[in-house]
Amino acid sequence: MDNRALPPVHPVPADLEQRPDPYPWLDRLRTEGPVQRIRLRDGSDAWMVTRYRDVLAAAGDPRLSSDPRRLTGQTGRTVRLAAGNAMPSMLTTDAPDHTRLRRLVSRAFTARRVEALRPRVRQLAEALLDAIAPRGRADLVAEFAFPLPVAVICELLGVPFADRAFFTKQSSDLLRPQVDAAGVALTAAARGHLRDYFADLVASKRANRADDLLSDLVVAGEEQRLTDEELISMGLLLLVAGHETTVNLIGTGLWLLLQRPDQLEALRADPGLLPSAVEEFLRYDGPVMTGVARYTTTDVEIAGTTIPADHIVILSTGAANRDPQRFEHPDEVRFDRADNPHLAFGHGPHFCLGAALARVEAVEGVGAVLRRLSGLTGAATPDELRWRPSVLRGLQELPVTFHPNS
Ligand code: HEM
Repeated sequence: MDNRALPPVHPVPADLEQRPDPYPWLDRLRTEGPVQRIRLRDGSDAWMVTRYRDVLAAAGDPRLSSDPRRLTGQTGRTVRLAAGNAMPSMLTTDAPDHTRLRRLVSRAFTARRVEALRPRVRQLAEALLDAIAPRGRADLVAEFAFPLPVAVICELLGVPFADRAFFTKQSSDLLRPQVDAAGVALTAAARGHLRDYFADLVASKRANRADDLLSDLVVAGEEQRLTDEELISMGLLLLVAGHETTVNLIGTGLWLLLQRPDQLEALRADPGLLPSAVEEFLRYDGPVMTGVARYTTTDVEIAGTTIPADHIVILSTGAANRDPQRFEHPDEVRFDRADNPHLAFGHGPHFCLGAALARVEAVEGVGAVLRRLSGLTGAATPDELRWRPSVLRGLQELPVTFHPNS
């Protein structure tokens, strides 16, 4: 391709997810054109799709692969270097492997199975608030939004909650933006530690079967429906995806409410409004903001631009969720937004497996905070808040004060 004919490259800012408001950058790209060339933080060149309708179509387009092993040439080398010794999981495979891997666990995450977990999620949320409520002040990220999804996914998978200090540190290292060689080394080391941890855990499940998802997967392995490598990689994906995202949804959601005391009170008075508020948290500032990655297996035309084969494409869920052609007043938070088919959980065959679980955790978690903590005020203004050093979008901390009670 003639480079002179190509449009300019927009480097993804190193601190995009850490900005108080990252959306002006995404808006600018979308305004300049629906498909833009970008430079990822690991130095790879990629394309970014920003409009709602194009992200929706591309997420279900089989010419766009989720498997980085299908990339060749220099792009493939860079992506593989960044991924270290990542083993393929359902997130990074296409059919038929993707279908086989997803089917092995999909039953555990259906709306009906997840609904049955609701009372337990509520109980865990109440237990965390029992410790917080008498104190009158707390960091609702560290003490609530984080431990709640960690406890839930630990119980579901059969991962010891007592190991949380170890695996939460490793998984947050795994998700740091890879801006330099040190960052690449850090994520590779974290992936290695988590892999070893899961290898040990799988061995112990093999010896002592329990009533949990990892034990079910051990059985699937014995029936030759998945390999050891796939089993470890599945456990790792579910553990990391199961808490790193939902912590952000609950943290950001609580913060959006704190900024809007009238609406917070309206939700407190009528918790039936919570599910629609959670959808708006997801649309307005969801955890997977920059986007999801795909790889072209052939030349693919999107909105008049031909993306050549063997290129990385980022489908920007965050930009799509603020697309004024799809959402009325997209930059306004409207907890009662009726028409809200946001793309925060993706779309197509890779649509978030844990969406129903994340929704239950957010509704129960935020609902419990509103029930238990009255006089809630946020100590920080938007510019004072710190956002996590991660490729996901979420608050590092949320200091609050409230009326102490027991
Ligand atoms: C996939 C977002 C919570 C497990 C995805 C994808 C998105 C996403 C955007 C699509 C990736 C792609 O298309 O490449 C979120 C958000 C969450 C959340 C915003 C919370 C607010 C969870 C939870 C789990 C989970 C609680 C629990 C186990 C997964 C898995 C996949 C996935 C396994 C891969 C599905 C596949 O490739 O078929 N998630 N997620 N997620 N998510 Fe979530």
